[in-house]
Parts: sequence; structure tokens; C-alpha cells
Amino acid sequence: MPHVVTVLGSASSHSRSANLLERVELPLAQRSIESVRVEIRKLAPDALLGGDVAHPQIAEAIAAIESADGVVVATPLYKASYSGLLKVFLDLLPRDALRCKPVLPLATGGSLAHLLAVDYALNPVLASLGAEHIIGGVFATEADMRQLAGTFELSPSVATRLSEAVDGLAQIIEDKQDLRALRCRPPSVHVSKEPSTNACAA
Ligand SMILES: Cc1cc2nc3c(=O)[nH]c(=O)nc-3n(C[C@H](O)[C@H](O)[C@H](O)COP(=O)(O)O)c2cc1C
Repeated sequence: MPHVVTVLGSASSHSRSANLLERVELPLAQRSIESVRVEIRKLAPDALLGGDVAHPQIAEAIAAIESADGVVVATPLYKASYSGLLKVFLDLLPRDALRCKPVLPLATGGSLAHLLAVDYALNPVLASLGAEHIIGGVFATEADMRQLAGTFELSPSVATRLSEAVDGLAQIIEDKQDLRALRCRPPSVHVSKEPSTNACAA
């Protein structure tokens, strides 16, 4: 079963970014794509800040990302950028940790003032980790996610954008699985001898 790692970069226990991730994990499960959540704020702080990649919690999180078929990163915007918590974690990932994986960035902010922070701050870091396919991110303001009965009500426009982004992510993962299945057939059935033009499909 393919799996996606959903990375939460919020320090808050009642988080809009976490709510966006829940809205990604459910439709992925309905398409038989498992989600493994990495909540950075719950990782051992000494190991996280000290860069102890041998610590079991950190090692497990890194291994989950390395073996994932896709990655979703959700972060609040703090001081016109993505969260420092997320940066500390991303700094621990090996070079190319995101290579050959579709990556979907999600962000929540107080207003649209720093809408472009995903493009100018987060996406370059994801690209530096090898991400070649960064799906168009989804940004939600506090007005898009009003508190309601202990949860958040999502505006219809953001709900639509999120649903389209999840469809795009799932489609890429399913297509890759189909490719792998094709390549795993016995040689007598696998007729094409053409080398792949896409190294990530291997
Ligand atoms: C310390 C702090 C700094 C913030 N800075 C920004 C900012 O620069 N731009 C912005 O749009 N929102 C900013 N916000 C608002 C948060 O991004 C917003 O409330 C977000 O939805 C919080 O996400 P979370 O609930 O997942 O933690 C800030 C919030 C805090 C607490």
C-alpha cells in the first residue's frame, strides 16, 4: 500500500495547519493511500535542536520520509515565513530526501499579506531536498478557517483548491504504482525494452 508522510510544522495543539492535514489524510485513505503523520512539536526537543539524527524518534521520522511515495508539508506562517519548527526538522533530512516524491505544501496565515512565503521561502528549501514535483500549494487564512465547535470550518474556495491538490497528489502516486507494477511483471510479459526517460519512475 503506498504511503504519504504528512508533516505538521505547527507548535499549536489546536492547529489550523493540522486541520488541513486531516482534510488531506481522509481522502487519501479513501483512495487506499496510507498517511503517516510526523508532528514535529512532539519529537524529542533536545534531539531535534541538537541535530541528533540517530535518536529513535528522529530516525523514524526521517526513514518514513525516505520510504514515502509522497510528502505533504503543512505549516503556519510566522514572521512572514514558514515555521522555525519546520525548518529545524527539514535541516535534519538528508540531501535528496524528497527526490522522486511529489510534495504538496500547505500553509495557514493570519491574512493574505504573506501569501507568497510558500513560493519564496518554503518551496526553494523543498527543491534543495530534491523535490522535483512540487504541487501547487494551498494557502488558508484565518478567515478561511473559522473556529466552529472545537474544529475549523473551511471556506468553499479553499476546500475546492485542497480537494484538487489532493487529487493531483493521489494521481501521481497511483500512476507511479502502475508503472512499478508494470516493471515488476515477468520478463516474458514485459515487452518494452526502451529505457525510461524519467529516472524517478524507476
Ligand atoms: C508568533 C506568530 C507570528 C505570526 N506571523 C504571521 C505572519 O507573519 N503572517 C501571517 O500571515 N500570519 C502570521 N501569524 C498567524 C498564523 O500564521 C495563523 O494564525 C496560522 O493559522 C496559525 O496556524 P496553526 O493554527 O496551524 O498554528 C502569526 C502567528 C503567530 C502566533
